[in-house]
Amino acid sequence: MTRARAVTLALLFAAHALTAATLTPQQLRGRAIYRTGESQSGTPIVALVGTEDVEVGATAMPCASCHGRDGKGRAEGGVTPTNLQWDALAKPYEVATAGGRTHPPYTLPMLKRAITMGSDPAKNRLLPAMPRYRMSMSDLDDLVAYLPLLGSDRDPGTSDDAIVVGVIVPPGDSGVREVVSAYYASINAKGGIFGRRIEPRFTFDEEPFAIAPSFGTADAHIPTITALGTGGFQILAGLEEQCRALIASTEGKVRVAGKAPPDLGDRITTDPHAPNILVLMTPLPLTTNTLLVPAAYYVPPPPHGANVFVAVPWSSADVTVAGRAELPAPTPVRATALAAAKLFVRALERTGRDLDRESLTKMLESFYQEPTEVTRPVTWTPKNHVGSSEVSVVRVSGR
Ligand code: HEC
Repeated sequence: MTRARAVTLALLFAAHALTAATLTPQQLRGRAIYRTGESQSGTPIVALVGTEDVEVGATAMPCASCHGRDGKGRAEGGVTPTNLQWDALAKPYEVATAGGRTHPPYTLPMLKRAITMGSDPAKNRLLPAMPRYRMSMSDLDDLVAYLPLLGSDRDPGTSDDAIVVGVIVPPGDSGVREVVSAYYASINAKGGIFGRRIEPRFTFDEEPFAIAPSFGTADAHIPTITALGTGGFQILAGLEEQCRALIASTEGKVRVAGKAPPDLGDRITTDPHAPNILVLMTPLPLTTNTLLVPAAYYVPPPPHGANVFVAVPWSSADVTVAGRAELPAPTPVRATALAAAKLFVRALERTGRDLDRESLTKMLESFYQEPTEVTRPVTWTPKNHVGSSEVSVVRVSGR
């Protein structure tokens, strides 16, 4: 059985790269303050909380924790934080708020007063549930430079009622499209995720919010769950892990035929007499050396007389059959695709209604030993997006 070859789609989104919200450096600093309470000015921001002005670090009370990342506000404990989206704040008429206040439209200086002194443009005192903040002038400038963008600096592919997810299918009719469509439809039938439908797209006229599953090479700026392929959040061990496992399974120096991932260690050599050849190309060379082959490059039958080892990143217990020309069957492509879609939905559910690429990525980077039912459990961290490093090495021919 040959394995579906990964497709390179890196250039696919080049035309769309600029559609992602482009914020100025000042707006980006303001966004960080809004979301995390963190200042880059060196002076920590302080929140004065309640009628007693209790001082708390703003990182424990960022704006977004009450007003939401989109500024819309979440009612909690009987108080409703105001909708901070600019079209609501700057309405050219008096607005009656939940607390009964009325006030003229906000201007940027008025916004600064509300944040630092707790009063609205009509000089009404805001409820003590809204903290007052002590911050440097430059932090305040940064923050109000960002506030008018709340709700409109959404990542591509998300709206109030939909999440557009790209699906990259493997070449050939593998049934991935049907199985993934049916799964997302079943999620939508149950009301979607926090009121949003999941809309899978198989062609990319617009940039999707994320891609799950992918069977290609991931684009760095779109969160991607890779069922089989490279880059993004990979479910299976990648080429580098396979090369390492192959090298570890033999003795002596290893010469590379093809293009190797960097940093494979000190057993790599250019010596033409090295006993092992790591083969990163097809077809396999005709030689009596030991050939070390990652699964993606292995096409049976093995050359006559050669000693061939293949790294297999997929199945688990059944990889004990040595001396066969065929590799153990991979976890079916459809099952791996479905696993990627399910991990995506799980991440969306845990991220919550306040969804953007940053929060989704953070959530995926916290996945620890997540079961997928069809592959080894997946662990992703900020430093490592390869979900499993486990690789089995199978001898498919030789002495
Ligand atoms: C602990 C929850 C909480 C946090 C944190 C918080 N707010 Fe508020 N905010 C509120 C509540 C509740 C109100 C409504 C007060 C009222 O109606 O009197 C409010 C009102 C406001 C208003 C006034 C709008 C109006 O109706 O006049 C502005 C502006 C505002 N918040 C901005 C911010 C900014 C900017 C931050 C971060 C620096 C922030 N808030 C942090 C809870 C919070």
